Amino acid sequence: MEKTISAYKVHIETFGCQMNEYDTEVVRSLLKAKGFVFTEDRECADVILMNTCAIREHAHNKVYGHLADLKALKRQRKLVVGVLGCMAQNLKEEVTVTAPIVDVLVGPDSYRQLPDLLTRAIASQRTGDVAKGIAVDLSEYETYQDIMPERAAGVTAWIAIMRGCDNFCTFCVVPYTRGRERSRDPQGIIREAEHLAAQGYKQITLLGQNVNSYRFEDWDFARLITGVADVPGIKRVRFTSPHPKDFPPALLDAMAGHTHICKHIHLPLQAGNDRVLKLMGRTYSRKGYLDLVEVIRRRSANIALTTDIICGFCTETEEEFLDTYRAVQDVGYHAAFIFKYSERKNTIAARKYQDDVSERIKSDRVTRLVDLQKAISLQKNRSMIGQTVQVLVEGDAKRSSDQWMGRTDNNITVVWEKCGTGTRPGDFTPIKISRVSATTLLGEEIPIR
Ligand code: 5AD
Ligand code: SF4
Repeated sequence: MEKTISAYKVHIETFGCQMNEYDTEVVRSLLKAKGFVFTEDRECADVILMNTCAIREHAHNKVYGHLADLKALKRQRKLVVGVLGCMAQNLKEEVTVTAPIVDVLVGPDSYRQLPDLLTRAIASQRTGDVAKGIAVDLSEYETYQDIMPERAAGVTAWIAIMRGCDNFCTFCVVPYTRGRERSRDPQGIIREAEHLAAQGYKQITLLGQNVNSYRFEDWDFARLITGVADVPGIKRVRFTSPHPKDFPPALLDAMAGHTHICKHIHLPLQAGNDRVLKLMGRTYSRKGYLDLVEVIRRRSANIALTTDIICGFCTETEEEFLDTYRAVQDVGYHAAFIFKYSERKNTIAARKYQDDVSERIKSDRVTRLVDLQKAISLQKNRSMIGQTVQVLVEGDAKRSSDQWMGRTDNNITVVWEKCGTGTRPGDFTPIKISRVSATTLLGEEIPIR
């Protein structure tokens, strides 16, 4: 007898950013509504989906590696393979040619079509057809407004408040894979936050490629984040990422004035040299960025800043790299994500500029910057020794279930031994910091008398 859809088990793997993690939750919800069930175990899955990222070559290679594994698996048994997300959108020809085992290819704006495409792929496998299901149209409107994502249980959740990006930074593939920028209705976002609070979530992270250009009728981002922070039961609201070019003073006011809005800003610098910033199409100067940092710190001295940096962008010289190095010293970030420039198909840089900095020089610049950032992070974390911080308990530590893991308001990870005090995920607990690394604070729970 043929299996019904509900007997088909779907396994989904997610690569890339938080937006992709969120999209996987949307996909799970769409498939669940049509009767599909999920499995964590890829060995017993009938359908394996990969939600992919195209931002750098490294992310690509990882997906191609997994596809090679699936090829072997597909020889042994019936299996439907789907590639979702940014790689599906950007590389439809390559993915279908170099990986003929892919049955279904669906871009970030087409997930509503996924249940049908999978159903058809399953049916055609039964009959021995090899028809491919491809849906990669970009939309100016799709925000999945009416879809309640299928989230893992926990205390922290994401909400995408907008999709796409109109900035066209010259190195970046996102405007091509995720399409035009569009904001979601604020009332729907607030209702979703209320629903999350009712389910016991304590923290919400608002996601967008450029959150400070959020706009829906007369709602801007400052108004939206305040509305979410006001939802009873939601104790912490975070956001990622703003663009330094149009950081609104009203957002700084909201952050300074609302105890539920976390004192952390991820503010991508990308480069600290004006010629390189211009070439990147970032539309701010080194001085403009450093002035903004000063304004932010004047408004709220205890705000933690983190950043993204690209090393070895087209034609970047050693002197220009040193401008970035000195900007990192000047700002003193809590943490930084540091990347080698990786040319992406279709981008302005790929079309107009020479990717002429050698791999060796790119790696060398990344290493120097990573070493610098590690020293800065360590120094900042050391200054916390002896202090007591208020931590939202998220769950077991990665390394051991004998330890809890949580985060400070500033988004710094804290780990401590469980000590039978009845602490639970979702609690706010004071932790006295005793030891630190560049990435983590270690401490002891202070008993509440
Ligand atoms: N090469 C290297 N890093 C990139 N990023 C985006 N595109 C590229 C690229 N082509 C980095 C930027 C961005 C982060 C999400 O990824 O620093 O902020
Ligand atoms: Fe890419 Fe620039 Fe848009 Fe960020 S702001 S997603 S780096 S184009």
